[in-house]
Amino acid sequence: MAKPKVLATRPLFPAAQKVLNASCDVEYWTKPERISKEELFKKVKDKEGLVCLLTEKVNAELLNAAPKLRIAANVAVGFDNIDVAACTKRGVAAANTPGVLDETTADFAWTLMMAVGRRLVEGDTLARSGKWTGWDLDQLVGADIWGKTLGIVGFGRIGRAMARRALGFQMRVIYADAVQAPDAVEKELKAEYKEMNSLLSESDFISIHVPLLPETRGLFDKPRFAKMKPTAYLINTARGAVIDDAALVHALESGKIAGAALDVFENEPSIHPGLKRPNVVLAPHIASASIETRTKMACMAAENIVALLKGKQPPNILNPEVLKAK
Ligand code: DGY
Repeated sequence: MAKPKVLATRPLFPAAQKVLNASCDVEYWTKPERISKEELFKKVKDKEGLVCLLTEKVNAELLNAAPKLRIAANVAVGFDNIDVAACTKRGVAAANTPGVLDETTADFAWTLMMAVGRRLVEGDTLARSGKWTGWDLDQLVGADIWGKTLGIVGFGRIGRAMARRALGFQMRVIYADAVQAPDAVEKELKAEYKEMNSLLSESDFISIHVPLLPETRGLFDKPRFAKMKPTAYLINTARGAVIDDAALVHALESGKIAGAALDVFENEPSIHPGLKRPNVVLAPHIASASIETRTKMACMAAENIVALLKGKQPPNILNPEVLKAK
């Protein structure tokens, strides 16, 4: 029997290829450049499965170009690139990769926080420049991390992994979320629930861990920056559009906040030129980019595809109602 046809918009990793190739006839996009919309639409036409990245939009337009599609599996936990409602309407399953990247992403958010607070990138630049004249008392003095107040916006798996790290740094942890965490979680992580305005005004470091939703788009805007301490730093490893980049630039330029460390951007891969300043640490959306974690993410996406195409429920399906409808 012919294997079901699948398109993967990246070669993935060997472990994920092994999972897919065992049950599917897979076409991998292997060119160094990204697949264009035209190529994607052309290649997805005869496919039953699509393994996609967060840089590809799975919307009504793509679904129209893919009459045989049964599942779109994102290699990412965030799925704001997928119009799940449109998939459901068309009977197409959508899936993501939750859980495997929490600790790796928290590690990187922590890295960014340390880097911006302790001016690591400025120090590296000076050390390489040939202009370093030796130790000096007030040279590149930054902010302590330990003992400070960490405000976590979004207290899901990654936000809680941040809180766990903060315990080792003797930090006070406060968090804001649509839902208050259970008592036991607050106790274990020594975390205190706050409404957003208090979190903004009390935190020395704020780390964002909310998904991009209509209600979180532009959450960090001019009025919210105005509420932050002038000594505070903002860390973002979630989604760029949670911050209004122009408002952030204004807050940095006017000294409303002390600095920022960003892995994601409102219009990535384009970065607002006003963010390219010494008190901002920039990274190219790599918070989950350890070889172990990215391999697991690719394998999870492959497993979601294989499950659906074998008539089973994909472990990370976002719209299980499409299965019931059949
Ligand atoms: C995700 O998974 O949503 C990240 O942004 C990439 O790991």
